[in-house]
Amino acid sequence: MAFARKDLLGTRDLTAEEIRTLLASAASFREIAERPLKKVPALRGKTVVNLFFEPSTRTRTSFEIAAKRLSADAVNMSASTSSLVKGESLLDTVDNIQAMAPDIIVVRHRHVGAAHLIAGRIKASVVNAGDGANEHPTQALLDLLTISQHKELGPGLEVAIIGDIAHSRVARSNLWALTTLGVKVRICAPPTMLPRGIEKLAGIRVCRRPEEALEGVDVIMMLRIQLERQDKLLFPSVRDYAAVFGLNRSRLARARPDAIIMHPGPMNRGVEITSEVADSERAVILNQVSNGVALRMAVLFLLGGQGGGGNE
Ligand code: NCD
Repeated sequence: MAFARKDLLGTRDLTAEEIRTLLASAASFREIAERPLKKVPALRGKTVVNLFFEPSTRTRTSFEIAAKRLSADAVNMSASTSSLVKGESLLDTVDNIQAMAPDIIVVRHRHVGAAHLIAGRIKASVVNAGDGANEHPTQALLDLLTISQHKELGPGLEVAIIGDIAHSRVARSNLWALTTLGVKVRICAPPTMLPRGIEKLAGIRVCRRPEEALEGVDVIMMLRIQLERQDKLLFPSVRDYAAVFGLNRSRLARARPDAIIMHPGPMNRGVEITSEVADSERAVILNQVSNGVALRMAVLFLLGGQGGGGNE
């Protein structure tokens, strides 16, 4: 399986074939989590640096586990313990890390375009683990991998994405990837949390009310309100938001009976989703997390291993 790219910066410019290659490779890595010895030698001798300038639980841990399961050496660096707090610029930090000859750098940063900037400067492959509200490609790909375990990923599928679309890099990466595969997407948010002009994108339907977004849908993705990216509160109160947009049992009844419920985490229980729904049999939220490791193994393997572009 070939993936002829140096970096993975977003899903916007991925072709359907590249997406399918990544998903097929990830599916083949899934069984490693079931082995008593969860390690393969694919990236032995390679170095992966996780450079996280924003908080993360799932993404950083799963990139680290993915690298280690491939036998790469994984190093974690977080902004609060780095020289960035001593005034070093991002580019100086990156130049110094490049001088240590890593093969892959995984970057999360609050500024849009940070991963692109770094990728254009260094020889190592770069994976965007979230740049501001722009893209989070591995999250979207692990979401697609999760959907593919339950549904056919193609034009017959309808996905509802409900929540703070405007500030969500997860929504953006999912929109690009899903529509590239011909999947129909409905999005729903308070008008203050909808990106302007979004209704003009092909394959996307904007719904004013969650009831409309959920009607007969196959997949439901709920999103957290990204308060840290809102400079003012974009709705009257958290309680009002939960009452109108939260996924509860009665709203869920509008979706197809076999609809699956997804959430990228971190979840705010009682706000965008009730605990009853989040913990129900139809929720695949923890499967998303398990699939995250396999998907990130595939990305690291295809970028840095025998599979692809790499740092040759
Ligand atoms: C998301 C993120 O950081 O963009 N989390 C994740 O990576 N699983 C979503 C969020 O923070 O709400």
